[in-house]
Amino acid sequence: MNVAFIGCGYVADIYARTLANYAELDLAVVHDKNPQRAEAFSKMYDVPTAPTLDAVLDDSRIDMVVNLTNPSSHYEISKRALEAKKHVYSEKPLATDFEQAVKLVDLARRQGKLIAGAPCTHLGEAAQTFGKALREGRIGKPRLVYAELDDGPIHMLDYKNWRSESGAPWPYLDEFNVGCTLEHAGYYVSQLVAFFGPAKSVTSFASLVVDDKGIEETPTTPDFSVGCIEFSSGVVARLTCSIYAPHDHALRVFGDEGILALKECWDFGSSVGFYPRNRVALKAEKHLAIAHRIGVGMLPVPLVRKVDFGFKVKGANRMDMARGIAEVAEAVTQNRGCRISADFSLHVNEIVLSLQNPKAMGVQRKLVSTCHRPAPMDWAG
Ligand SMILES: NC(=O)c1ccc[n+]([C@@H]2O[C@H](COP(=O)([O-])OP(=O)(O)OC[C@H]3O[C@@H](n4cnc5c(N)ncnc54)[C@H](O)[C@@H]3O)[C@@H](O)[C@H]2O)c1
Repeated sequence: MNVAFIGCGYVADIYARTLANYAELDLAVVHDKNPQRAEAFSKMYDVPTAPTLDAVLDDSRIDMVVNLTNPSSHYEISKRALEAKKHVYSEKPLATDFEQAVKLVDLARRQGKLIAGAPCTHLGEAAQTFGKALREGRIGKPRLVYAELDDGPIHMLDYKNWRSESGAPWPYLDEFNVGCTLEHAGYYVSQLVAFFGPAKSVTSFASLVVDDKGIEETPTTPDFSVGCIEFSSGVVARLTCSIYAPHDHALRVFGDEGILALKECWDFGSSVGFYPRNRVALKAEKHLAIAHRIGVGMLPVPLVRKVDFGFKVKGANRMDMARGIAEVAEAVTQNRGCRISADFSLHVNEIVLSLQNPKAMGVQRKLVSTCHRPAPMDWAG
């Protein structure tokens, strides 16, 4: 299948490197509205550039558009690609506005094309191992989930000098303005929907913790959120996202007979472990709470298959991002259901938007009572 990348920025390098894992996918052409960026990318990966989006969309060899533009452009580019009867694989979020995401999914249906939204973390080896252990009843009935996507205090790091392999700067303005919840929550939400099915409600709190991040403009987008997702199957999940608390990408699912833990969301080969909840183990459980988070002392659950991407992954994540494109391509060629269907992508999009925008998407109580802060004890100084 011939694919075209629209957007040759920071993430496009990760896609290009992981695309090499799939011989059936051919990167036929790339386009970026910034010609210098397209040129640098084209040189590095030896792929032709197209001068305009229209040139890509008019090219009958192209079957799928991979939308790697900034989130504010996702809707327009995906819409144009679907109108031109191309399949679409879009970086997250599918759209920054839920109504627009609905329109994209409707359009794809009318055009008889697939649209799928990243991330594809639920297709990774660790997530597949986790899902199998849940299906096999390893922890009995799963009831409660704690998932963390804390990414550390990025504004205290040297983020202005981060560069991709082909030289694209890390788009910090965009990252801070789009917000860490919209950028990151999907990495776990997609897994949770794959494990537990659709959700029926989201209750969230989101806030800006650090307004001065050393950039040209003051961001207003929350850099912290905590939300609770109620799944139709009865499971309840608490998901936290921030770019302030120290790095913690752990997932824990608590069941009547045990706890399943996954250490690192952004590693398809992350360790997965099990802690029993029998009478003896329960006595030690309160002392092990921290250990659960970092995977100490767990009984390893072997991955369902070895992780062998066949390429060197650099940087903060070890995710085979092109796997999502390959899944869509295979679903098309085999005429089978896609594991990143339009409905799935839309549902993940709605949950993530609700986590980030509780005021716009749902109810948030404004408190009517207030009080004075209790004075410290005299002996506390
Ligand atoms: N930066 C990361 O680490 C990272 C990781 C995973 C996913 N993502 C996601 O990938 C997407 C892109 O992020 P990025 O970090 O590569 O951003 P980026 O700013 O580095 O790159 C985006 C590129 O898209 C181009 N572009 C924007 N609008 C366009 C349009 N209308 N037509 C043609 N080109 C256009 C820009 O010129 C830019 O070169 C985002 O959705 C982001 O959430 C980013």
